[in-house]
Amino acid sequence: MALTANDQTIKGNFKGKDILSLDQFAPGDISILFKKTLLMKKIAANAKPSDILKGNIVTLIFYEPSSRTFGSFGAAVKQLGGSTIEILDPKSFSSVSKGETLEDTIRVFEAYSDIVVIRHPKAGTAQKAADFANFIPIINAGDGIGEHPTQALLDLFTIFEHTKRLDRLTGILAGDMLNGRTVHSLIRGLSKYKNNTLYLLSPKELRLDKADRTLFQKSKIKLIEIDSEKNIPKNADFWYWTRVQKERFKSKKQYEKVKNRFILNSKLVKEKAGKNTIFMHPLPRVGEISTEIDEDPRAVYLRSEVRNGMYVRMALIALVLGKIK
Ligand code: NCD
Repeated sequence: MALTANDQTIKGNFKGKDILSLDQFAPGDISILFKKTLLMKKIAANAKPSDILKGNIVTLIFYEPSSRTFGSFGAAVKQLGGSTIEILDPKSFSSVSKGETLEDTIRVFEAYSDIVVIRHPKAGTAQKAADFANFIPIINAGDGIGEHPTQALLDLFTIFEHTKRLDRLTGILAGDMLNGRTVHSLIRGLSKYKNNTLYLLSPKELRLDKADRTLFQKSKIKLIEIDSEKNIPKNADFWYWTRVQKERFKSKKQYEKVKNRFILNSKLVKEKAGKNTIFMHPLPRVGEISTEIDEDPRAVYLRSEVRNGMYVRMALIALVLGKIK
């Protein structure tokens, strides 16, 4: 929507805004979104179709593989009676294969639709797309190692459902802090609230980069970097496990060296989890959570965390299009 950085803060009004980073949100904005998410939960449960987005078209253009985020956005739009234009892998299946620039692609699809949802392998591309778009909002569905704001919003909603608060929390984030965009957005989100402590469990090579660490040090959040399960505190509010981001490594050898160093399994759960600790994962998992945990009632990653993704995206799209207040 070609806004300057300052205009992007939500400040209680979602209408017409690009959704690019958790930095745009204050706790009050997150509360508004959560209230609407509860409404969407009811709408999705209703057999009667909703027509909140009737006549609206949302373009999903994903330059990187995705099934759940893509599916979740598509389902969200359809639950509200809207339609989608879906372009997966534009490098092979669109004019991008003929050399079209991002600017032209965005200018074309803004003529057809009311929102463009974009995923791209390069950090900063969602912002670029927003600069190119003149008339419609852009939603970032993951930009390389940058951010994944809608994932963080659904993760915050899932935590809130269980703890009824987003302050005074202790959480463990495990896996790839360097390349994981979901953790980058989640830390930003939790840093808006008071007295949150996050233990970042990762191999030393996959710690946050310097720029992120400096940025978070200036915020309210307390981050403790650890590289052994021994240092996980008992009874944390949530555990958020992530995949080591294979596609960001220069060599297979480097990836093999650090992959799956920390596995969430029943031994670790017995030693460190509390009866109310929830186990989260943005998915896909590739071995870092043992399947023996799946039936544990504290595991939300294949349950509410997935469903909440659709509800949060329904609420966000309806708010951005000004269809609900
Ligand atoms: C995440 C992503 O793409 O960043 N997945 C998702 O959106 N559900 C996490 C990942 O790929 O590891």
